Amino acid sequence: MSTGGLLCYCRAGFEPELAAELTERAALALQAGYARAERGTGYVVFACDDGAALSRALPWHDLIFARQKIELIGQLPALDPRDRVTPILGLLAGSGRFGTLLVEHPDSDDGKPLAGLARSFGNALRPALRKAGILSSRDDERAPRLHVCFIAGDHAFVGRSQPADSSPWPLGIPRLRMHADAPSRSALKLEEALLVLLDPREREQLLQPNMRAADLGAAPGGWTWVLTRHGLNVTAIDNGPLRAELLDTGRVEHLRTDGFAWVPPRALDWMVCDMVEQPRRVAERMATWMREGWCRHAIFNLKLPMKKRWQETRMCLDLFAEQAQRPLTVRARQLFHDREEITILASATR
Ligand SMILES: C[S@@+](CC[C@H](N)C(=O)[O-])C[C@H]1O[C@@H](n2cnc3c(N)ncnc32)[C@H](O)[C@@H]1O
Repeated sequence: MSTGGLLCYCRAGFEPELAAELTERAALALQAGYARAERGTGYVVFACDDGAALSRALPWHDLIFARQKIELIGQLPALDPRDRVTPILGLLAGSGRFGTLLVEHPDSDDGKPLAGLARSFGNALRPALRKAGILSSRDDERAPRLHVCFIAGDHAFVGRSQPADSSPWPLGIPRLRMHADAPSRSALKLEEALLVLLDPREREQLLQPNMRAADLGAAPGGWTWVLTRHGLNVTAIDNGPLRAELLDTGRVEHLRTDGFAWVPPRALDWMVCDMVEQPRRVAERMATWMREGWCRHAIFNLKLPMKKRWQETRMCLDLFAEQAQRPLTVRARQLFHDREEITILASATR
């Protein structure tokens, strides 16, 4: 069995989608290998001979279903609970130096009970790695990160991630706190999308006070609330009621009308859309917005069907790109706060 390859985390239940994505993208990049995935585990291993080459061919930012991408150094499937440190030091001999250590577990029903072990083992492993010269004496955020991922008390994957080509958060999960004033939990989805799909410079440039936005399928108003907090003026489209406090901001106009039919009277900076509808129908409407230049930037959700979710994802993104008929920057991701859906950012490139 090859021990090289990639270990990627995902939302539990989406392993087949991540496996299909990795398989298809690796084949397109002419990289040989195969995915090993078990539903509900929260991770997928893509085994190959040259993990570093595969990792370069599959940039983390382009992956939709991977929360994190780790280049495997090896796995230790029969660790002795009395001494898990020595085999890890042995495995890492000759693997270079690391800037930080993350001891993790998959975000799954089987993985979550390993959180206590991961925490306490990290405290034991860190000084041993430093003493052996494998880990920087102080955390160095620019150097490769070392990941030890327990999938059982006696079974761990060991690998590295490159800070510029991976998620900065443990388990690939940005922990956002629900704000007491937010009208709905959905607010966290848009907050995460802005955090993950834009870099800090883009966030500053593209979200400026008094920009104009539309929110299609806005009720009860979580996404509209996020936009107003960035100082944007929002036309919120939904037949359902919006939280009254939003209207008090003076930045929100509520129109009770159909989000698939409404056309802005003049071009907007942003359009966001969280309408629960068939993904193809949403993708087509979003393409119309971009093609007609009704907005410069868009963030929208595609609610995925129960089956053939990778195929549906590909089909919708292809259809969107084709029908938009203009050069766009498109980034897609299943966010931590997404459930059976993915979130897409589309920006008109000048
Ligand atoms: C998931 S909720 C949106 C939650 C919202 N993003 C938030 O943060 O509070 C979906 C909304 O889409 C609205 N919706 C569905 N189809 C619509 C349509 N054709 N036109 C306008 N709104 C629609 C529903 O009324 C519902 O309020």
